[in-house]
Amino acid sequence: MMKNKTSLLTLCLIALLALPTESAEHKKLNDPDLVKREYMVKISRQLGVTCNHCHDVNNFKSELMPTYKVAKEHMHIVDLLNKQGFKAKNDPKADCFMCHRGTSMPDYKEKTLDKK
Ligand code: HEC
Ligand code: HEC
Repeated sequence: MMKNKTSLLTLCLIALLALPTESAEHKKLNDPDLVKREYMVKISRQLGVTCNHCHDVNNFKSELMPTYKVAKEHMHIVDLLNKQGFKAKNDPKADCFMCHRGTSMPDYKEKTLDKK
């Protein structure tokens, strides 16, 4: 009986020591560059474009490209939608895909039936 208890304790200790001190997920959330990078990859995918659609790839800080400016405005729209619109716990979360559906210029006007 006593022997069983000791071995159980030993097992618990081993299990505790084997636990990772910092999970990979946690590390990721603490790295702002990695978070930004993943976000950039995600928006590119959602618009069906590559980085150079919005960036001068020799200077990612440049804000000159018209698409960069539009993207910035649309990020603001998405932010507003999530903060002031879809704010209940189970609401969907707005993102670029919601409108863009994998293309950079989404067709946003209802197709009219009566073409005169
Ligand atoms: C749809 C347009 C768009 C696409 C595509 C895009 N970006 Fe961006 N990127 C932006 C905008 C807008 C910002 C500024 C975001 C902000 O102000 O928070 C930005 C910011 C950045 C920054 C930070 C620059 C700084 O000021 O330090 C980096 C780095 C970056 N993008 C890299 C990438 C990479 C790599 C890709 C491709 C995987 C990519 N971006 C694709 C629009 C885009
Ligand atoms: C509420 C709907 C909506 C959302 C959400 C949205 N967009 Fe847009 N976006 C549009 C529409 C509609 C157009 C096309 C405008 C036009 O035809 O002039 C567009 C155009 C753009 C363009 C210009 C494309 C080009 O090739 O000139 C960029 C860049 C862009 N969006 C980036 C983004 C990014 C990045 C996100 C997510 C952060 C986003 N958009 C979210 C509706 C949206």
